[in-house]
Amino acid sequence: MSTSFLPRAVSCLALLVSIAAFAQAPNKPIPTQIPGQNAILLGAAWYPEQWPESRWEEDLRLMEAADLKVVRIAEFAWSRMEPSEGHYDFDWLERAINLAGKHHIVSVLGTPTATPPAWLARKYPDTLRIEANGQRVMHGNRAHASASSPRYREFCRRIAEQMAIRFGHNPNVAGWQIDNEYGYALMSYDEATRQQFQAWLKAKYKTLDNLNTHWTTSYWSQTYDDWVEIPIPIGGHNPGLMLDWKRFITYTWASYQQNQIDAIRKHSDARQFTTGNFMGFFDGFDHYTITEPLTFASWDDYVGTGHVDPDRNGLSHDLTRGFKRQNFWVMETQPGAVNWSPLNNFLNRGEARAMAWQAVGHGADDVNYWQWRSALNGQEEIHGVLVGPDGTPVPFYDEASQTAHEFAKVESSFRDTQPLSQVALLYSYDSHWAIQFQKHTEKYDDIGILKAYYRALRQISQSIDVVSAYAPLEGYKLVAAPSLNVLPKDLADHLREYVRNGGHLVLGPRSGMKDEFNALLPQRQPGFLVDVLGARVEQYYALETNVPLSGAWGSGEASIWAEQLKSQTPGDEVLLKYGKSNGWLDGQPCVITRAYDKGRITYVGAVLDDKLMAAAADWMKQKSGVTPVFGQVPDGVEVSRRVGPGKQVFVLINYSQESRHVALPHVMNLVLEGKQGDKVDLPPFGVAVALDK
Ligand code: GLA
Repeated sequence: MSTSFLPRAVSCLALLVSIAAFAQAPNKPIPTQIPGQNAILLGAAWYPEQWPESRWEEDLRLMEAADLKVVRIAEFAWSRMEPSEGHYDFDWLERAINLAGKHHIVSVLGTPTATPPAWLARKYPDTLRIEANGQRVMHGNRAHASASSPRYREFCRRIAEQMAIRFGHNPNVAGWQIDNEYGYALMSYDEATRQQFQAWLKAKYKTLDNLNTHWTTSYWSQTYDDWVEIPIPIGGHNPGLMLDWKRFITYTWASYQQNQIDAIRKHSDARQFTTGNFMGFFDGFDHYTITEPLTFASWDDYVGTGHVDPDRNGLSHDLTRGFKRQNFWVMETQPGAVNWSPLNNFLNRGEARAMAWQAVGHGADDVNYWQWRSALNGQEEIHGVLVGPDGTPVPFYDEASQTAHEFAKVESSFRDTQPLSQVALLYSYDSHWAIQFQKHTEKYDDIGILKAYYRALRQISQSIDVVSAYAPLEGYKLVAAPSLNVLPKDLADHLREYVRNGGHLVLGPRSGMKDEFNALLPQRQPGFLVDVLGARVEQYYALETNVPLSGAWGSGEASIWAEQLKSQTPGDEVLLKYGKSNGWLDGQPCVITRAYDKGRITYVGAVLDDKLMAAAADWMKQKSGVTPVFGQVPDGVEVSRRVGPGKQVFVLINYSQESRHVALPHVMNLVLEGKQGDKVDLPPFGVAVALDK
């Protein structure tokens, strides 16, 4: 978060430039902001089914007093809503929803399909998942049903439909959350699922010859003569098969989700949204595909053990925003502590408030605490809450209340705003999986490398979009793909076009090695982009020890992975070279850049240390004309920006242990304080919101 940017006058100029940029900000309605409600909302997960009805009023009174505006409700209440097969009881839920409405609280209805009732499991055991070890899962936890079971899906469709018939026009219901954390993308390893996988492969490859060729099944006698021979991979397997299995999982959960969306849409007002609560970098399926039919994406933001790491958390927010390239919700976050970590420490006083504001700065329009009050029994008895088992507020309630009051006070500043970035990071599930399947060194952590790029590039830009490699890129001055391992021809063409039109593309190590079947490309890296770079990777090395590096970005070290590059074209510039190492790398290029048509491509063949990464980012900034959205901020302060028609709003948060003084580029409205100013003083975890219009 530290910046060593520009002298003040230059940073003012930069701000003017970025204001000009936001004048062109797209002005379409933001689906995460509910008509008739505040632009930014705070809420909680509420489980009225766990309490006598006589208690509800008091819960809602306390919520209203704290300015909570949203409850997520019913996502585990299947046994109350359908106590026996085909007998539905929604009266209690309707009373709860309407009572919440009376307290100016809207409901988000969760479909309860992560927790099917006991009668369903007993009557239809075939709806329960079979684990990879062949065991059938028992009732009593969550995600025990099989997402690929047609019978289970039929029950899911019916309950979702019945809920929609009852609540699809209820003015107090703002929208729908499908399932809960999508059953962690768990699959059933039963014969019927295997047949579905085989049918899916047949639809994709058409002929076995085609499949055998793309998977190179002549290797180890894997050749398939009949579709029924193809297994579900358990443990290691053919990389082509394993990647397709991941895609099949994506397909399964997407159609599982669609089944419920269709049932809801048939009976609900168009104003009611659909969303799913995802889990940051959880990689069970491809989130770009899954989120496509949803109105917007949400995620569950938990720290677990320790304290908030603003880069890691910011990156996860930006990842979630990038799923659909629009604002999102934080459907769940921890009220102090969780119950599932090795050490369930409490966040420091003020830390959760800082987290909530960070979410907003990165494009969240709602933040909900999980949960309002813990059930007196059940697996999560001692999780963080706002109200204790005695029904009265715990100390954290005051912090949630302060945050909610602040949201309510300054919400209009955020109306119709969203982050707008000059820099994009490309994140690809195919590449992530391909690397995970064949790490080559257990230390290789593509998410860690993404984070290192994020940290360095956020320093120079203060705003980053994390998007699919196939996303439209024309608005970005700089696009970095730290680990684009799977880079088929169509994707290479897309990236080439970006460079041709004036963009700067930066590729990290292991880029351009595989095609879409997870087969090695019959070219050297970066595959179909070798001609753009005018250089290629000669050989790659998993490193035992760090390797010295020096060149235009200064000197430092490569760790974990190093690629030996070779220039093949005049006009290529070598920016870093390896020092003495394993003999192969000694004196060889590590980073090559080249101007191509109106743009530029740069290939970074190693994992760089933090200092080199920062120098690389500075160089990228100069070469690409990236400007920070705000300007200089002191060490430990994070700034985020949201842009709307004729305005931009900054969220400044101090994550350091000491107070920080931040000079604003010019006088702005400090909306939390309700005054104008050109500077702010932030205590540890202090937050300022500066509106510029
Ligand atoms: C997840 C679930 C919630 C709850 C919390 C506890 O995010 O969605 O139901 O179990 O974890 O932290």
